[in-house]
Amino acid sequence: MATVHIESKSNEIAPIVLMPGDPKRSEYIAKIFLKDYKLVNSVRGMMAYTGYYKDRLITIFPSGMGCPSMGIYSYELFKEYGVEDIIRIGSCGGYDSRLKLNDVILVTGSYSESSYGIMLDNYNKKIIKADNSLNNIIESTAKDKNKKIIKGNIYCSDAFYEKEYDYKKRCAEKDVLGIEMETFALFNNARLFDKRATALLTVSDLFFSEEKLTSEEREKKLNDMIVLALESCLKL
Ligand code: HPA
Repeated sequence: MATVHIESKSNEIAPIVLMPGDPKRSEYIAKIFLKDYKLVNSVRGMMAYTGYYKDRLITIFPSGMGCPSMGIYSYELFKEYGVEDIIRIGSCGGYDSRLKLNDVILVTGSYSESSYGIMLDNYNKKIIKADNSLNNIIESTAKDKNKKIIKGNIYCSDAFYEKEYDYKKRCAEKDVLGIEMETFALFNNARLFDKRATALLTVSDLFFSEEKLTSEEREKKLNDMIVLALESCLKL
């Protein structure tokens, strides 16, 4: 049933949802990778599409930026639309010096100082795990496709523009590979509703290097990550 934020009819959202941050990216993914796709949401410009990847019905729904936005959409998708599995497909900044631009991280846990879990249902831990069974499926798909992924924790921040801090210290002390802004809300909602969620993140910038990629390089690598997520969906 439609919510304040999502206008889709109940049968227009698939049980499996991929969530990029950017609404433009969900359109791109639908156009390039899905067959017989249909626009199922445009409220607030959050363009969502449902269509087939091979024989599997999948919805691509953007999360927007940050835990509050991801929190609203993933909550309503799990609770009101019976979604079972959400894979965030996004980007992150790289802290760990072993990372290279465009590496793909499969998130095992999200560390955050965010109050999202406390506000949601008094969950007061700072770390929350991704779903292990989803991760096993993604890992084995990556292996089959000869695609390198790096498994590890991510730091989920509430402020893109944080006051100066020692990223190396955070990386070591919190045991995180890098930083993004949405996984903590997604994983908390999955926990609340006993659903499954994980995240694949392309390293879009490095804290220890000025190196940049061309837009073609970026797009090609992003496509690799999207295909990995879509191929994994076939096994769900
Ligand atoms: N900070 C937070 N989120 C991000 C970053 C960052 O540097 N890069 C990509 N997502």
